[in-house]
Amino acid sequence: MSLRLQFQTYQKRLSATLKELSNPELLPAAIEVRSLSKTYRYSVKALDGLNLSVAGGSIFALLGPNGAGKSTTIKILTTLSKPDSGEARVAGIDVLREPQRVRRSIGCVAQKSGVDENCTGRENLTLQGQLHGLHGADLKQRVDTLLDRFSLASASARVASTYSGGMKRKLDIALGLIHRPRVLFLDEPTTGLDPEARAELWEEIARLSAEGLSILLTTHYLEEADRLAQNIAIIDRGHVVAEGTAEALKGELRGDSVEVELAEAAPDEAINAALRNVAVLSEVQVSAKTVHARAEHGATAVPPMLVALEAAGVKVASVKVARPTLDDVYLRHTGKTFQQAEAQQANR
Ligand SMILES: Nc1ncnc2c1ncn2[C@@H]1O[C@H](COP(=O)(O)OP(=O)(O)OP(=O)(O)O)[C@@H](O)[C@H]1O
Ligand SMILES: [Mg+2]
Repeated sequence: MSLRLQFQTYQKRLSATLKELSNPELLPAAIEVRSLSKTYRYSVKALDGLNLSVAGGSIFALLGPNGAGKSTTIKILTTLSKPDSGEARVAGIDVLREPQRVRRSIGCVAQKSGVDENCTGRENLTLQGQLHGLHGADLKQRVDTLLDRFSLASASARVASTYSGGMKRKLDIALGLIHRPRVLFLDEPTTGLDPEARAELWEEIARLSAEGLSILLTTHYLEEADRLAQNIAIIDRGHVVAEGTAEALKGELRGDSVEVELAEAAPDEAINAALRNVAVLSEVQVSAKTVHARAEHGATAVPPMLVALEAAGVKVASVKVARPTLDDVYLRHTGKTFQQAEAQQANR
């Protein structure tokens, strides 16, 4: 074979290999979870056969109300807790067999802040770096990079107790990144932040993902999952009830959602009986003073709906027609709205 031909064959092989390597289907999953179950002592089942798969380099949101099992999942995946059964791999490493190796590959920002309020931003980061075996010029450079990266450089000499909520959360994330992890866990990163700080943090999280980090975050905020995550798993009582992209999940629901607020509570049976004859409505659900229904064309379904309710003596305060939201998806899969699920958990 001539030298030229040899070179061409080599080039072809190289390009095929590169193509294969960049095929997302062939990239190892960042997180694989199979049938995880866990019951805490004196508690209900926190996880009940949870399955997940998070693609490398993506943002994945675990969306669920209070008590759904989000933090328990994160604790198991970050080796802080053990499941009763099931298995999980993070960055390709088994969390039960090789917890030490998993810890070196991950960063974790817990629901409760890990920032030491009595130390400055720089001291917090330096200490965290030392815990991970960094020192000298290498450590200083890493701390400076992260302070810059999270716009904390000018506040780096102030004690963290003087930071705003958004600044503290950014410092928390910087702490989780000090050792350059491949997978980052964020447990409710924006809870308690004002809308501006939340939007800023969303930008940061999206940027980290664009740089190749795989991120699993948990959230109560439907909007957060919708905005940030390529894939969402909705969890309820310890297992996944629906999974997919926000668009695919919303796409499961055809038509519009119609929500009627009643002026005063009325018996469920009376409402259901009245609306049974409104053919354009489907999936009618009554909860307290709110009636949810679906209709192919929301606007045209409203007049007959109001007529039927009025004829049954049910007084209406307001009506809202909307395109499907993740809340509708949640309602479809769990039979309750997100707010109801949160209230139920709070009363448990
Ligand atoms: N250490 C514990 N001991 C006993 N029960 C626990 C413990 N931790 C969690 N639970 C229970 O397990 C269930 C799942 O809790 P988990 O903290 O995983 O929920 P979550 O989805 O993170 O909720 P939140 O949105 O409120 O943070 C809840 O019923 C909770 O009360
Ligand atoms: Mg939690």
